[in-house]
Amino acid sequence: MQQLIVPSVLPADFSQLGAECVELADAGADRLQWDVMDGHYVPNLTFGPGVIAACRDKVACEFEAHIMCDRPEELLPRYVEVGCQWVLVHPETLREPHRTYQRIRELGAHAGVALSPATPVEHITDVLDVIDMVLVMTVSPGFGGQAYLSSMEPKITRVRDLITASGRDIDIEVDGGISAATIGGAASAGANVFVSGSSIAKADDRAAAIKELRDLAAEAGR
Ligand code: DX5
Repeated sequence: MQQLIVPSVLPADFSQLGAECVELADAGADRLQWDVMDGHYVPNLTFGPGVIAACRDKVACEFEAHIMCDRPEELLPRYVEVGCQWVLVHPETLREPHRTYQRIRELGAHAGVALSPATPVEHITDVLDVIDMVLVMTVSPGFGGQAYLSSMEPKITRVRDLITASGRDIDIEVDGGISAATIGGAASAGANVFVSGSSIAKADDRAAAIKELRDLAAEAGR
């Protein structure tokens, strides 16, 4: 399985987002994740499509939009339009999950199901035919810098077993508290895509931090 390191833009210096994107891409990021929050589904407010559009042509790497909003159906086409190749949505915010994940693909992007810590794995069983990734949150969504929930590792393994049994090529991403101390546990549980915000943002040498995460994931991965 390909293992990817995806820095989150959330801890970046918002006064120079474009330059931050360039620095993360130059440091070896495989993709960049934009945490889109509406102040309703989660108690925080972040990136509108216009912000992402302003940064799109600064880097070549793919963008993920992790949509943590109520009524995401109305918003998500705009995120595809401004250049997000991956759109991740929480199923409990959707009226019609199967139709919405299918629509993300029809819009030309990859679709992902984002599972908050309390959201059961069963939410993915009937949409495996229309998704490309499952994001298992390892913190409650809304803020960076929180502690990693190792209690989510059995859930990662259940998701991996479900995907393996389906015979489909679906990635498992983890997000929240991922650092050199925690990435091994997530990788050995079955994850292969790793979002990291504060552990990369606070590193003196971001390229070395990304390389260390990649090496540790490769060592522990399945
Ligand atoms: C939290 C976000 C995460 C967060 C990760 O709701 O979805 O992407 O930015 O940041 P760290 O790695 O600091 O937990």
